[in-house]
This record gives sequence, structure tokens and C-alpha cells, in this order.
Amino acid sequence: MVKLAPSILAANFARLEDHAREAVTAGAEWLHIDVMDGHFVPNISIGPLIVEALRPLKKETGILLDVHLMIEQPERYIADFVKAGADIVTVHVETCPHLHRTISHIKELGAKAGVTLNPSTPLGTLEEILADADLALIMSVNPGFGGQKYIPSSTAKIRRLRQMLDAIASKAFLEVDGGVYAGNAAEIVHAGADVLVAGSAIFGGTKSVAENISALRSASR
Ligand code: DX5
Ligand code: ZN
Repeated sequence: MVKLAPSILAANFARLEDHAREAVTAGAEWLHIDVMDGHFVPNISIGPLIVEALRPLKKETGILLDVHLMIEQPERYIADFVKAGADIVTVHVETCPHLHRTISHIKELGAKAGVTLNPSTPLGTLEEILADADLALIMSVNPGFGGQKYIPSSTAKIRRLRQMLDAIASKAFLEVDGGVYAGNAAEIVHAGADVLVAGSAIFGGTKSVAENISALRSASR
């Protein structure tokens, strides 16, 4: 079954734990945490303190904390995020000249290691590292903000990544992030995704988090 990873970037930070709990209770398997530094991406968001704040919920429910680092020199902060409770740490190829070293560092700290790339970055940049990755993430919007529109060419990129993973018999998760909603979930899953990140489609709008999760779940079957 496809896993859902609600992006807390779209949650209400004033009642973050409650909002996140609604998503977990409604069946979300992971929580996606978007870390932005105002350098690699124009926006500034969350640091290790917020990951730590979600730790009691993780302890109680067994939810995985999926941390997406959109920051320059991510190696400076990986240990802090793992210590704060990150189960998966994903870094961008654009920020890691020594990607193999960075991935190894994440794993040595006991977390799963993810790799990702911007929409305009060719998939070939992942080729040599895929066998070492626990997760490969296709960004289907330019990173930096929630609530953007899915870039249509991402579907072909997901399909090609699925082929690359299958060709090396990789068990890595193929995650997709940006503009995912009930209207395109089927297309994304059929292309080969097994984890869907969704922020505004889960925490935004007028319907409840549970209704949004159930709509996304049925659309991804
Ligand atoms: C974008 C972030 C996404 C974002 C997704 O930089 O990486 O995780 O929060 O939000 P939606 O689902 O609203 O596009
Ligand atoms: Zn993200």
C-alpha cells in the first residue's frame, strides 16, 4: 500500500501536535518535515526543535519522522536532526558535493538516508548513489513553498526513476513531493511512487484532515 506523508509545513503551528495527531489517527504512516534555510530555498521554516516537539507523538504512535533538508551544507545539521528524532533524513544532490559521504554519515547515525533533486536537475545525478539510498524523492515543484502546482513533467521523471530502481533491484522508497492531491495521486502512483507527500491537500481547505486523508488514500489505490 502507498504510504502517506503529510507535510506539517501546511499544518497550524500554533497547535502542531494536535494537527499532526489528526493525520496520524486518520492513518498517515509518516510525517514529512520541511526544513528550509533561506539560502538554498527562499523560505525559512523548521529546525530540530520542532522535530523534537513531535517526539512524544512518535513515541506514542510509532509514526516515522521524514525530514527533508532544503538547506546548504546539510552535513552541519544532520546529527542534530537525528538526535531530535528524525527517522529518515533526505538531502538534495544540489547541496552535497560529497553525496556518498553525506549518505554514509546519515546511516552511521542510525537514520535512513534519502536523496532528492530539484525539478530541473537531471535524474542521472542520482545514478551512482541510488544503490546506497533508502529513499529517492522526486520534487514535483520547485522546493521552498507549500501550495504550488504539480509540474506535469514530473510523472515521466517518476517513471524513469522507478525503472532505475528496479534495474538495480533497489528496495528504496520512491517518494513524491509537491502539488500532490486526490486529482493526481493515481497518475503518480501508477508511474511508480510508493510514498506521497501532501501538505495543503491534507491540512488546507475546509474539509477535515481525516476526510482529506481518506480522499487521498482512495485516489491512490
Ligand atoms: C516544498 C516542500 C513540500 C511542500 C508540499 O518545498 O518540500 O513538502 O510542503 O506542500 P504541498 O503538498 O502543499 O505542495
Ligand atoms: Zn518536502
